[in-house]
Amino acid sequence: MSSYAHVVGWGKYVPARVLTNDDLARMVDTSDEWIRERSGIRERRLAADDETTATMSIAAARQALEVAGLKPAQLDLVIVATVTPDQLFPATACLVQDALGATRAAAFDLSAGCTGFIYGLAIAAHLLRAGVYRTALVIGAETLSRITDWTARETCVLFGDGAGAVVLRAGENEGGVLASVLGADGSGGELLELPAGGSRLPASHKTVAERLHFIHMKGREVFRFAVRVVPLATQQVMQQAGLPLEAIDLLIPHQANQRIIEAAVRALGLPAERVYTNLDRYGNTSSASIPIALSEAAENGQIDAGDLVVCVGFGAGLTWGAVALRWTRPQPVPLPRWRRTLWRLVYPLAWLRSRLRRLWRRVMALFVREAPESR
Ligand code: UT7
Repeated sequence: MSSYAHVVGWGKYVPARVLTNDDLARMVDTSDEWIRERSGIRERRLAADDETTATMSIAAARQALEVAGLKPAQLDLVIVATVTPDQLFPATACLVQDALGATRAAAFDLSAGCTGFIYGLAIAAHLLRAGVYRTALVIGAETLSRITDWTARETCVLFGDGAGAVVLRAGENEGGVLASVLGADGSGGELLELPAGGSRLPASHKTVAERLHFIHMKGREVFRFAVRVVPLATQQVMQQAGLPLEAIDLLIPHQANQRIIEAAVRALGLPAERVYTNLDRYGNTSSASIPIALSEAAENGQIDAGDLVVCVGFGAGLTWGAVALRWTRPQPVPLPRWRRTLWRLVYPLAWLRSRLRRLWRRVMALFVREAPESR
């Protein structure tokens, strides 16, 4: 049975700590003027020591579930798109699943560079539309500050931390995700990479000394690629949706560079007011940038029920993708305080459940250890 996949909840989290261009100018040989002119960024957020991709994902997910009016136990699927997972494994999505108490959900991480959220959204929508799952949580989250070389001015001025999330729900009403296009070109992998820490170059004194655990990017080449694929993917997804470009009410591009966004908008012939940007405040947060922008636009009332929203991304891989969606959710009415408090009780309970399961596993381990001897 096929149905539609609607966005019914959204949320975002950005860390409190702000790093301005002037702060950066005191760290490396750069200036506020250069950063603003070349990228459009004024400031970005940096995670505190106790914040990670999982903690930010959880905060964004809780908001998204609250807007959706759904409990974590109703989730069938949790996807975290990220290139900065808490650990290589277990998946950050599993940490999120546990912390939320999404006891029925499958959970996995998705690595598609800055296009990760678009990939996640497209995959989740396909699963919902095919009737495999009913409810999915798709998160884009990054702690890029932990893989940023704070001595390299070419990259350190660009990136920031944060997380955004949406809840998708299957429904019979027309709307939701109408079309998606995804692309990849691995021949451009070396243009944007984290060279070490995987099976090819495991962590060693040498890789650390050579600063290979940080982002390496050929900015100009990535720029050229982005200017080409953003309009292309947008055109393709609208074609697939059977709609003209003029039908776009809001374009939400990956927030990497104001000049890339402006070039794409010119190529598409869209008026500037139909394009959402917030990279001046958050910088490039990789796979978090689109869901943060989408949540912010929805919160600010810049998206109304009936609007056609296109999200378009590009990034490491190289990868690119776009999703066209018909917004169907009216502005949510905030819950009264007492109901919100009651609602949030599921999280301490999830914490307790997790601790009890760990304890139970330890107790069971004692018995299992004795089992072979007693045989
Ligand atoms: O999320 C997806 C991935 N990333 C991107 O989308 C990034 C795409 N690329 C870009 O956004 C731009 O290429 C950058 C913002 C990274 C760089 O802008 P650009 O206009 O392409 O500058 P450039 O790399 O051509 O460098 C121009 C000059 C160079 O000096 P020379 O060789 O002309 O003397 C750089 O050394 O600017 C210099 N430069 C800087 N100067 C001051 C590079 N970084 C800085 C800096 N401050 N932070």
